[in-house]
Amino acid sequence: MNRLIRNDPCWCGSGKKYKQCHLKQDRATRHRQRKGGNPADEIIIKTEEQIKGIRQSSRLTRDTLDMLTERIIAGVTADDINQWVHEYILDHDAIPAPLNYRGFPKSVCTTLNDGVCHGIPDGTVLQEGDILNVDVTTILNGYYGDSSRMFLIGQVSDQAHRLVEMARQCLDLGIEQVKPGCALGDIGHAIQQHAEGHGYSVVRDYIGHGTGIRFHEPPQVRHFGKPGTGIRLSPNMIFTIEPMINVGGHQVRVLQDNWTVITADGSLSAQWEHTVRVTQDGVEILTA
Ligand code: MF3
Ligand code: CO
Ligand code: CO
Repeated sequence: MNRLIRNDPCWCGSGKKYKQCHLKQDRATRHRQRKGGNPADEIIIKTEEQIKGIRQSSRLTRDTLDMLTERIIAGVTADDINQWVHEYILDHDAIPAPLNYRGFPKSVCTTLNDGVCHGIPDGTVLQEGDILNVDVTTILNGYYGDSSRMFLIGQVSDQAHRLVEMARQCLDLGIEQVKPGCALGDIGHAIQQHAEGHGYSVVRDYIGHGTGIRFHEPPQVRHFGKPGTGIRLSPNMIFTIEPMINVGGHQVRVLQDNWTVITADGSLSAQWEHTVRVTQDGVEILTA
């Protein structure tokens, strides 16, 4: 069967020959399934109904971040942001996914300056010159949407400003790669080339992920890599791209709270995140 259609166009719509696109991956999947593999290890190709639900949740994620735009200024605390996010999401009949997720104590992640990700909101007062990532994940009717943005507090340094722009460009470049037949390594490569080409580094230890039905699903989406490597995309895969870009080295460490990740060298870090869907011929940014 495989042999007969090796030279046919791949079913995913990439226009590539099957043997140059999904053939190897399909064989591996069948092999795993024959061996009675765990379904949780498989990428979930979303149904139309699931896509509708994830799209709705993703819009709520976006609206939650929009709601914060005017409010995040010098003088507010990270706890204020947590409170606003918590209430906004509950008011919209949804649940903030971080709350109690693997013991995470708050409803949103707020990550400041040399923070990389997973900051826990506390009484810290935002000050002029700070850069802050706010990472919102909603569960609406059981479906997840996950997105984060950078917020600049007043005037920030040129270094901070450029970093935030770089991280944003990295996300955009990653998203641009997404279409059927694209390899995950193409996404990582595009991001890594851009960041490292401008003297920045890409965090290795935290990565994007499938999402929608569970908070974190396969596949793992690295923000570095080699073109043509890793699994190939097909329509109705849904995952996040969320590059963390550092001014200094890529190494990170986790604080005593067991959550907050910071750069090992104390340099600034920035991150933007979207949830995206692979369409028939490209990408839908669900959280845009
Ligand atoms: N939203 C994060 C992500 O992009 C995950 C946060 S997990 C939490 O994957 F527990 F810290 F909320
Ligand atoms: Co995410
Ligand atoms: Co997130």
